[in-house]
Amino acid sequence: MVSRAYWEVLVTRRIRTFDEFRDAISDYRLPRVLLTALELDLFTAMGDQSWPLTTLAKTLKVSERGLGILCRNLASAGVLQKKGSVYKNSKLGATALNANHRAYRGGYLNLIKSHWTDWVRLAESVRSGLPLDHDVPDTPDYRRQFTWAMHHRTLEIAPAISAQLQLGQAQALLDLGGGPATYALAFLAKNPRLRATVCDRAAALEVAKEIAITHPAGRRLSYLPLDFSEEPIPSLYDVIWYSNVLHIYSPKENQAIFRRAHAALKPGGRFIIQDAFLHDREGVQPVEASLFAVSMLLFTEQGNTYTVSDTAKWLKQAGFVRIKPIPIKKGTEDWENGIWEASVPGPRPRRIANQTGSNRNRKVR
Ligand SMILES: C[S@@+](CC[C@H](N)C(=O)[O-])C[C@H]1O[C@@H](n2cnc3c(N)ncnc32)[C@H](O)[C@@H]1O
Repeated sequence: MVSRAYWEVLVTRRIRTFDEFRDAISDYRLPRVLLTALELDLFTAMGDQSWPLTTLAKTLKVSERGLGILCRNLASAGVLQKKGSVYKNSKLGATALNANHRAYRGGYLNLIKSHWTDWVRLAESVRSGLPLDHDVPDTPDYRRQFTWAMHHRTLEIAPAISAQLQLGQAQALLDLGGGPATYALAFLAKNPRLRATVCDRAAALEVAKEIAITHPAGRRLSYLPLDFSEEPIPSLYDVIWYSNVLHIYSPKENQAIFRRAHAALKPGGRFIIQDAFLHDREGVQPVEASLFAVSMLLFTEQGNTYTVSDTAKWLKQAGFVRIKPIPIKKGTEDWENGIWEASVPGPRPRRIANQTGSNRNRKVR
């Protein structure tokens, strides 16, 4: 998720002059300062105490001069507070960036850190058209780390989106490529009658289980280990949630997955897609969705970001109807206009229990 303020800078920026070109490139400086603080474990070392610069430099085993310049920049960015030569973590630094705090989002921070070194090698992928780790197989260990990263990425967005997405009378939801099941759990928490299944690779599902055990709605979650790009989806669902998977695959691969999703939905069932869609005719805006395609070049064999109109065409070819956006309040979305739904022809699923007079007054034991 890109914050609203940053989003506006990205969307409104157009590079026309040499100075604007230089300024755009110079944007690497603050990210490098922030990543250096993470590399030095600075936020963790500071915890919730105030630190004279000299003591902090000794603790981190770095030069006082270097740390002084680094901390001053961290303070001007707002992630540290400064009083003379004494520094203190901001609330963010003391929690999500602090490995000793329960709100630490280290899985995602580690992924972001590794992206810096990967993006430096972009020319290699542009030359070859292949991901950097083209020859490296997906190991269970990597899958676990990536799945934790996805959880730490979405743990605030998922409940916000679940609060705005009406699942109506749906009783069975499939979180296809659900990884840590952060979304499935958010849907379960909001809809007490719902049962959900998370489908992913076995190593990802192990992480989902670890998370679900600690979640109040975790008992209503089931696990489906399956490679859905190769195999059909068993069983039938009212809703399939397909979040941040579209961009991993080529148009052809997505079309095959859409056909499998269609076959795994009940009549009237809903296929809800969340992704970094391109919205303009030329397929260059929003900038964030265009930039995300660069990540797909670096890390996937065939992935890309897609226009809504192309995606809608593939959905229709798979037999879906009623293709429409699901509006999400600005600032709470994962991607700008990033949620679209399509339905299998037929009436929406209806709740059976509690509809007749005899059911209405029956006690639940
Ligand atoms: C980018 S993550 C998105 C996770 C989650 N849906 C979200 O929105 O945060 C993509 C997930 O899809 C899973 N995935 C991709 N292709 C898959 C396939 N063919 N079979 C099973 N899982 C797959 C990956 O393992 C990963 O957990």
